Amino acid sequence: MQTDLIPVTAADAEPRALALLEAGAAIALPTETVYGLAADATNGTAVAAIFAAKGRPRFNPLICHVPGLAMAGRLAEVGSVAERLAEAFWPGPLTLVLPLRSDSPVHPLATAGLSTVAIRAPKGVVGRLAEALGRPLAAPSANPSGRVSPTSAEQVLRGLGGRIPLILDGGPSSVGLESTIVRPERDRLVLLRAGGIDRAALAAATGLPVVDPAPDAALSAPGQMTSHYAPAGRVRLDATNVEPGEYLIAFGAGLVPGEEAAAGVVNLSPAGSLAEAASNLFAALAAFDAPEIARIAVAPIPHDGLGEAINDRLRRAAAPRPEI
Ligand code: TXA
Ligand code: MG
Repeated sequence: MQTDLIPVTAADAEPRALALLEAGAAIALPTETVYGLAADATNGTAVAAIFAAKGRPRFNPLICHVPGLAMAGRLAEVGSVAERLAEAFWPGPLTLVLPLRSDSPVHPLATAGLSTVAIRAPKGVVGRLAEALGRPLAAPSANPSGRVSPTSAEQVLRGLGGRIPLILDGGPSSVGLESTIVRPERDRLVLLRAGGIDRAALAAATGLPVVDPAPDAALSAPGQMTSHYAPAGRVRLDATNVEPGEYLIAFGAGLVPGEEAAAGVVNLSPAGSLAEAASNLFAALAAFDAPEIARIAVAPIPHDGLGEAINDRLRRAAAPRPEI
């Protein structure tokens, strides 16, 4: 299959995207978090095209992207806490896991048969296309399953070129990390995945405590597989030195001992900004995702604010890999 890559600003970009979505295709689209591989969430064949292009395990449910609260209310029961969160953060990097409505049009392949559905209103073209289509767009990150999430159109092309018909190029993703996933409850927020909106912002917007899922609730966010975002080489975290032959992902102004001898260095943010580091993280992992790069050391990243999400992604990139 030929994969066309065109700027999202081109006059024919949105009409072509809309025609492909109406025809049940899966196409790659920019969002503020990462690039998504989108298809009509109400069409089982279209959703299956996403799984096929990604090579993704089918039990893993997808996020449904909507223009805003009105469409969300047709898919799920939106309670008052969810409404407050949507008003505070949509459009933006927040996904809400809500009870599925009994008359929800979302195809069960997109929810993996769960009784809940994950919904987010992103910034930009995805919301406009969902509005024009009149239906939600299911979209996981536009990478082959288990690999680094793409934050540029070129990165999507490298991973999925030949497997999808169209990529809209919106430039580098501004947030650079996937959305925060929250399950709102009456008197608390359960943080299922750290992401582009940090704990403090969630608490401030609602006045509610933000708690972690119970440790045995491994399936509360079934996509949270341990190994993920993995480059080809082995990743060593919290490195306070660089060993011979290692590549280094650095953070902040200080030099890591041995850094001068590193095989290659990418600094996520020389100024020590966590927002800048978040936006550069996946590009750094992708830059070092090459067969000849066997070992990658990562300097310690502070854990506060967006550091929680950055460290979560790094732990998964470093986790032992299942052989698949
Ligand atoms: O920023 C993002 O969220 C990006 C962009 C494209 O929107 N999307 C993204 O999708 O990261 P994906 O498929 O890579 O991750 C979706 C996560 C998975 O961990 C999945 O298990 C979880 O959302 N999820 C989906 N539906 C769920 C549900 N009903 N309950 C709990 N977790 C759910
Ligand atoms: Mg993903």
